[in-house]
Amino acid sequence: MTTVLVTGGAGYIGTHTDVELLNKGYDVISIDNYGNSSPEALERVKTITGKEVKRYDGDVRDEKLMNRIFEENDVDWVIHFAGLKAVGESVAKPIEYYDNNLTGTMVLLKAMRDHDVKKIIFSSSATVYGAAEHLPLTEESPIGGTTNPYGTSKLFQEQILRDVYVADDSWTIVLLRYFNPVGAHSSGLLGEDPKGIPANLTPYIAKVALGELKEVQVYGNDYPTPDGTGVRDYIHVVDLAKGHVAVIDKIDNPGVYTYNLGTGHGYSVLEVIKAYEKAAGHKIPYVIKPRRPGDIAACYADSSKAERELGWKAELGIDEMAASSLNWQTKNPKGFRKD
Ligand code: UD1
Repeated sequence: MTTVLVTGGAGYIGTHTDVELLNKGYDVISIDNYGNSSPEALERVKTITGKEVKRYDGDVRDEKLMNRIFEENDVDWVIHFAGLKAVGESVAKPIEYYDNNLTGTMVLLKAMRDHDVKKIIFSSSATVYGAAEHLPLTEESPIGGTTNPYGTSKLFQEQILRDVYVADDSWTIVLLRYFNPVGAHSSGLLGEDPKGIPANLTPYIAKVALGELKEVQVYGNDYPTPDGTGVRDYIHVVDLAKGHVAVIDKIDNPGVYTYNLGTGHGYSVLEVIKAYEKAAGHKIPYVIKPRRPGDIAACYADSSKAERELGWKAELGIDEMAASSLNWQTKNPKGFRKD
């Protein structure tokens, strides 16, 4: 029996990954401090799968707790999601971002090494490519030039992990660079639950579609893209979750592996709004605003390496992303809160 420790196991990508792992017969342990998530999400995982996630409530920066987890369990793989991820907030709170993301990773790696657990999947981001010159992005595209502490913390964490392998080549280190994860579980029980007014595009559109917010603000229509609005590679969170399972199923040998997880298709902001209109069955109001500082024109993946080496390919398209996101939002207008 393979046991997977999922840090940030109650979060948006974490819970969707728990479900796919449990459905494939893996044992799942979650550690989460619920800083941006809710224990209720783990109850939902149980409702969907009929299986229990073993739960540790706490912070990955807590050395004592991390050591206890590895002492009490025979962990085979770690999937490291835990961390802070809001771009704008990271600019205002660099110390909190570097502390959470870098200290968390250091404490985790130390505990792993001390308990001889040396297989880790790291939740990285396409943000490590900075403002890319050539699209689509392959794993060999240059990295660096990040513009905010969140992105820089991902870049640093990748480097730390590569250095760990240089020092000890018995580690298996898998860096997964996510493009833009969106959508929700088909059950309507799990989805993205951002605190306050969403900063990311799709949760914002969903709230406008349901009348909770007035109109979508489109940040710029003068980019060098087909309709002038920003283009991104949106990937369904369930496809993304399955990418992690594919890694555990496929990768046997120590090494450092890097994979882009995207669909390979770019959609503009206006195309995403259209997909939501189709799913909602009505128009969604929007206004054109100036560009958002730090945004790039376009970003999409070449994901052929993941397909070749892992046998993984995104299967769900923009319509499923929009429909599942609206389904989640309709059924859970307050997210995981019960009040
Ligand atoms: C950001 C992060 C990325 C992270 C992703 C998901 C950076 C530079 N970007 O991506 O690492 O993986 O969030 O959390 O680090 N837009 C609007 N109106 C809105 C919101 C967004 O027009 O209200 C536009 C943006 O200009 C952009 C697109 O929609 O063109 C997507 O934006 P967003 O969802 O915030 O994701 P990214 O900035 O691409």
